Amino acid sequence: MDVFEAMYTSRALRRFKPDPVPEDVIFQLIDAGIRAPTGHNSQDWRFVVVTDASSKQKMQEWSERAWRLAFPAYQDAGSIDALPRTQRLSIAGVRDLAFSLGSVPLIVIVCGLRGKHSSPGGSHFPAIQNMLLAARALGLGGSIFNLPLVGGNEVYELLEIPESNEIYACVPIGYPVDRPGPLARKPVKKVTYLERFGEPWPYAQEQPDEGWGGKWT
Ligand SMILES: Cc1cc2nc3c(=O)[nH]c(=O)nc-3n(C[C@H](O)[C@H](O)[C@H](O)COP(=O)(O)O)c2cc1C
Repeated sequence: MDVFEAMYTSRALRRFKPDPVPEDVIFQLIDAGIRAPTGHNSQDWRFVVVTDASSKQKMQEWSERAWRLAFPAYQDAGSIDALPRTQRLSIAGVRDLAFSLGSVPLIVIVCGLRGKHSSPGGSHFPAIQNMLLAARALGLGGSIFNLPLVGGNEVYELLEIPESNEIYACVPIGYPVDRPGPLARKPVKKVTYLERFGEPWPYAQEQPDEGWGGKWT
């Protein structure tokens, strides 16, 4: 798959088939992830591949707790049904993953040395994005999903992550039920300036609001 097609269609996918992700595919994801840059080339990522059913089930329990804490307004299905379409689909996806995390085939926990970098996570999120693009190219899907980390340190204890390391992201991955892409994003002209902050960029002003994804998909 072309890199642009992967970028324009890699949306957050949160519902998965039960099919396991083969070990060679998991290796490919992480091997692609670590091609990403790190500050000072420190390469201090550490990945914990979680496939064990009881570990995933515990993470689901912490996700359910986080769902109740972080989304008090959406505790009944009716409040989600009343949202505008895009928001409704996204929030329903978050809820569904919070309550099904235990049956997602694979969760990759991405850690890095605590306090090592001036921009925490800056050396880890590039690898995560590489992994998600690789997942897309391999017919998988996923997203960052940090709900198991909200409200407690249990994931550290469960996976025996040492004090020296911080968890930057939980990344559930599997063969998706939902279709990938296209991505809804603000147009380039709304988020990019020319030479000075706030100065419009005429070239971008002439481009379609939906961007150039159509060239690749
Ligand atoms: C730093 C970071 C943290 C995120 N944390 C979560 C999360 O905890 N739960 C979740 O459902 N999605 C999480 N996401 C995914 C975003 O919500 C998602 O990418 C965004 O809503 C855009 O969705 P789309 O790519 O499907 O258009 C996170 C993304 C990033 C970059």
